[in-house]
Amino acid sequence: MKANKIPFNKPYMTTRLMHSASRHAWSSALMSEALLTEMEQTFRINAKIRDEKALFFTNSATQALEIMALALELEKGDEIIMPSYTYAATANAFARVGAVPVFADLDLSTMNISVDTIEPLLSSRTKAIVPIHYGGISADLTMLTDLCLQGGYTLLEDAAHGLGASYEGKPLGTIGNFGCLSFHHTKNITAAGNGGVLILDKKHPKVHVVEQIMHQGTDRVSFLRGESTEYSWQRLGGEFMMSSFNMAYLESAVKDLDVVTIKRRQLWERYQTMFTEQLETYISGGHIILPKIIEGAETNGHIYFLITKDRSQRDALKHKLNQLGIEAYSHYEPLHRSTAGARFGQTRTEMSATEKAGEGLIRLPMFYDLTFEEQDYIIEAVVQHYKSEVDL
Ligand SMILES: Cc1ncc(COP(=O)(O)O)c(C=O)c1O
Repeated sequence: MKANKIPFNKPYMTTRLMHSASRHAWSSALMSEALLTEMEQTFRINAKIRDEKALFFTNSATQALEIMALALELEKGDEIIMPSYTYAATANAFARVGAVPVFADLDLSTMNISVDTIEPLLSSRTKAIVPIHYGGISADLTMLTDLCLQGGYTLLEDAAHGLGASYEGKPLGTIGNFGCLSFHHTKNITAAGNGGVLILDKKHPKVHVVEQIMHQGTDRVSFLRGESTEYSWQRLGGEFMMSSFNMAYLESAVKDLDVVTIKRRQLWERYQTMFTEQLETYISGGHIILPKIIEGAETNGHIYFLITKDRSQRDALKHKLNQLGIEAYSHYEPLHRSTAGARFGQTRTEMSATEKAGEGLIRLPMFYDLTFEEQDYIIEAVVQHYKSEVDL
């Protein structure tokens, strides 16, 4: 195949969806409550989120994490365990309220934190554990839930990558005490730019706290329900509500969630099957690690990645792919190695798996419109590069 440039990602934004969202936002401009109710119902059905869950739509997953941090009413020095291999948003939300992000190493075979990497970090100050479900592949939520129940910690799912993915049949983001999803334009479904949602049980004791945080820390929602005759400032809050156009777009786009997820899973499986067969000797020789899906998890095909042996192997592959018109990227710079990570966070264990992911991980193109022909070209390019450049 003679490739035109193959981008790394194409946002799931179409003219049809833009038109439908514009019409919808326009017709309901003065009735955002109605738009919110309608969008919430559509979202719930298509994302398969049960009625017992409360949904708070925000402008980003970052905001949803910030709301979690406020709702936990953390004190200075409280500790929140999270992977070092994550986006700064995960740590910022907690560090800005005075808590300490404590960085856990990855289990490289799953790319998530695990009980083994978390246990040495637990202390009397530990308040919460935040797995991220890297690339839309669930962390072991059975083990993490047990650990949290035993120790009295709150399980916060940063499922920014996780829309459409599940664990034991339940959507990611709905299993922990709190969870969030992202609709940023790099995610499988976008709200046309930014967007997020915070999820918790309707019966969770903090639901009213979250309602207040969403409304500038006031008890306006109780007032609107007729529970009081006036409302006033009760706690720290902010303006987090998703804007009308983003809601209208998400309402249209989320109807395509199944179609998008099925296609992305197909692409993910094709990468996985072909690399397993064609790079077998490089995998067994320790040059490449392929992703792995734990039992009970179903991925949404958000990211397909390879972990190469080291930074020089990764950069050589990336360079080769770029020369062939294929965009490929590394991902996070581990937070424990960053300036702010050293200032606001703590590292207490070996971080060798995280270091390896930081140096060796490469993400390949993955988006709804990627054709099998383009994908074959990418796979061929990776395989040929290994065969011609990497000595076993
Ligand atoms: C693990 C993780 N958490 C949180 C976020 C923040 O999501 P958003 O862009 O919706 O604020 C991201 C962004 O990609 C992320 O990768």
